[in-house]
Amino acid sequence: MSVQPARKVKVGVVGCGVVATAYYLPCLMSMAEVELAAVCDMNPARTAACVRLFGAREQYQDYYEMIRRADIEAVLILTGPGTHAAFTLAAAESGRHVLLQKPMALTMADTHAIVDAVRKAGVKALIEPSANSLLQPEHCELRALLDKGVLGDPYWFTYIPSSMDHYHASLGGNPYGLGAFFSADSGGMLFDFPYAPTEIVTLLGPCKRVTAMAKISVPERWIVPEAAYDRFLAGVTDPFQANYWDVVLDLPRTERVTMGAPDNVFSLYEMDSGAIGVFHVGRPFHPVPKGFMGGLHVYGTAGNLFMGQGGFAAIISSRRELLPHVDADGWYRMPARGDFSKAKWPQPVPGGFNYYHESTRHWIDCILRDRDPLLNVEWGRHINEMMCGAIESARTGRRYDMTTTPAGLR
Ligand SMILES: NC(=O)c1ccc[n+]([C@@H]2O[C@H](COP(=O)([O-])OP(=O)(O)OC[C@H]3O[C@@H](n4cnc5c(N)ncnc54)[C@H](O)[C@@H]3O)[C@@H](O)[C@H]2O)c1
Repeated sequence: MSVQPARKVKVGVVGCGVVATAYYLPCLMSMAEVELAAVCDMNPARTAACVRLFGAREQYQDYYEMIRRADIEAVLILTGPGTHAAFTLAAAESGRHVLLQKPMALTMADTHAIVDAVRKAGVKALIEPSANSLLQPEHCELRALLDKGVLGDPYWFTYIPSSMDHYHASLGGNPYGLGAFFSADSGGMLFDFPYAPTEIVTLLGPCKRVTAMAKISVPERWIVPEAAYDRFLAGVTDPFQANYWDVVLDLPRTERVTMGAPDNVFSLYEMDSGAIGVFHVGRPFHPVPKGFMGGLHVYGTAGNLFMGQGGFAAIISSRRELLPHVDADGWYRMPARGDFSKAKWPQPVPGGFNYYHESTRHWIDCILRDRDPLLNVEWGRHINEMMCGAIESARTGRRYDMTTTPAGLR
């Protein structure tokens, strides 16, 4: 017998683009604790499609009108980065809870303003991404192993994002989304990838300093025209088949766009623990050799950790007794949850962690139980400062000293 929730949280969604229709809206419409009261997008074809597919009650083209008029207590902000700060402030100042897609903001002034507004209003705000954070069970397990000392003193690390080993149309950057990934107010490729600082802080603790170089290396990019997404949405009849990623990678990139923000960024981090490491973000135009795995690699005095190897992660350690088990060759291989062979990148892995869904559930649960989300504004601010600090360091040519700490984490 299903248990009915005490009440439903009335939510509005701004941004009816790819991330909304692929992940959040199917999740929201399936949750007994949620009423999808309103959707907003400046493109009316997109809001109309979301009313039809996901049962949204009202549609708006103007976000501030939705905030003024809609009967909602919570908002998911799923538009491009250039809107995030202003939209979050308007939501918080009107007393609405917020789930904010990454990046939190593009400057520290805006980041601090969000923290202040959310804390002043007393609303629940969750800052994405939950992928690679302690909301992900695998990261909790890894963090516990590191806390026990399985790597000894982790003293250096590298993070080169994973790349595909086969030719794919997504090589060179996102196949769509001018305002989300390419324009000046998108923040560029660094701000598309808070997944790296999130994982680094989740596993190694707070960051102390950032030094970086950032530039626009390949100004001319080609994407699939926006109209192709509208045609796709118009043809969708099943709300659980509204994932544009299923088709966009095979569509021709015929629209030329100019990169307005850095597409090639090296960040050098020094952590509070003393560990130092490097993170690079950029998009390769060609495949990497089969079997090559990027992701986070951590080197310690008692062991090494390689994310993405041997399933989810692999650890070799001189303190074997701290590991759940080791294979004959001495490696602990942490299995991936869900079957990756059944997933077509970047769809969620069946049985695996879908970060958009887990974030939504956690945020709604926090609203209903009056709890602060794990990925709260202070957490988001620290991760965002690692990116804003990198851009500042690249601009000034000087080291950037971090000014924030991620609340709730040592
Ligand atoms: N696409 C993904 O798989 C993905 C994954 C993780 C995170 N994200 C994040 O989600 C956000 C959106 O990405 P996307 O891929 O869905 O982009 P998108 O371009 O597909 O969607 C953005 C939508 O916002 C609308 N919009 C823009 N400005 C608006 C405004 N002022 N008022 C109302 N509507 C407005 C656009 O019309 C568009 O429909 C970005 O911050 C991105 O970093 C996307």
